[in-house]
Amino acid sequence: MTHPLEELREAALAEISAAPEERALDAVRVRYLGRQGSISAWGERMKSLSKEERPVVGKLLNEARTAVTAALEEKGSKLRAAMEASALADLDVSLPGTPNELGTLHPLTQMLDRAIAIFRRMGFALAEGPDVEDEWHCFDALNTPPDHPARAEQDTFYLPDGRLLRTHTSTVQIRTMEAAPPPIRVIAPGAAFRRDEVDATHSAQFHQIEGLYVDKGVTVADLKGTLEFFLRELFGPETEVRFRPHYFPFTEPSLEIDVKSKTLKSGEKWIEVCGCGMVHPAVFEAVNRARGDAAFDPETWTGFAFGLGMDRLAMILFDIPDIRLFAQNDLRFLQQFA
Ligand code: PHE
Repeated sequence: MTHPLEELREAALAEISAAPEERALDAVRVRYLGRQGSISAWGERMKSLSKEERPVVGKLLNEARTAVTAALEEKGSKLRAAMEASALADLDVSLPGTPNELGTLHPLTQMLDRAIAIFRRMGFALAEGPDVEDEWHCFDALNTPPDHPARAEQDTFYLPDGRLLRTHTSTVQIRTMEAAPPPIRVIAPGAAFRRDEVDATHSAQFHQIEGLYVDKGVTVADLKGTLEFFLRELFGPETEVRFRPHYFPFTEPSLEIDVKSKTLKSGEKWIEVCGCGMVHPAVFEAVNRARGDAAFDPETWTGFAFGLGMDRLAMILFDIPDIRLFAQNDLRFLQQFA
């Protein structure tokens, strides 16, 4: 005669082998070996058995537990393997993958890389400053009085705390001189912001390459030579460069630069690309006051500064008709500069 425990064991093994998936298998485990399970119940029942019966039933109980546990484990791993196999069944690992599209450098970045390389050959190092500035670095230190139009509400983005988005990269002139005594030879490329009416040649955010050169005995000839060399390296040796007198509060004299070249698409047109001039003594004095020393004594030190319109340079170089294209992230535009 078979003991009920043996019957339970056989029944459990049959159910295990029939279980179609893991959840059904777990239900079998609970039914037989769980705390309320029918095999487990024999553990309780042992206490009421006689001394003679106990070892016999104990042995059967152990055997049943061991056999059922082993069967559960084996079937479980079979089911998991089958599931994984079916998940991969449709996967052809020999097919080529989906290629990642290769990006390209933004035309402004390409233009900037070229500009940096040219200035580096002339010994200019890179400098930088924050986009969010205080009025002092953007205007006061640059000899720009409170009633200057550039400071007007309608021309500049002011933050509620009185700071502003820098309207030009000339702020970095000041920050560079605050940080280190002369001589100085830096360029500072970066974003600038103005509340301009947006059109094909104006954007509320644009880019400039600031330059600052401070040493003893610097003259307009150095300024002209440096910028002419830069523009001819960038646009080609035939490029004509024209300097026009202009006004900036922080340079004296001040000039604007136009370029024209037969080899460029813009052809016979003069295009304005740069504002520049000799650093105004008032700028050196403002820096000295901020530093608390006389490191930039205007009697000893001289310098020139310039601000190149980076978007403008890239538009000329790559024949781009509209400044807004730089920021629209249109792949049809960007892929042309691959
Ligand atoms: N900051 C000026 C502008 O944005 C350009 C400039 C830079 C002029 C340095 C002179 C010297 O128009």
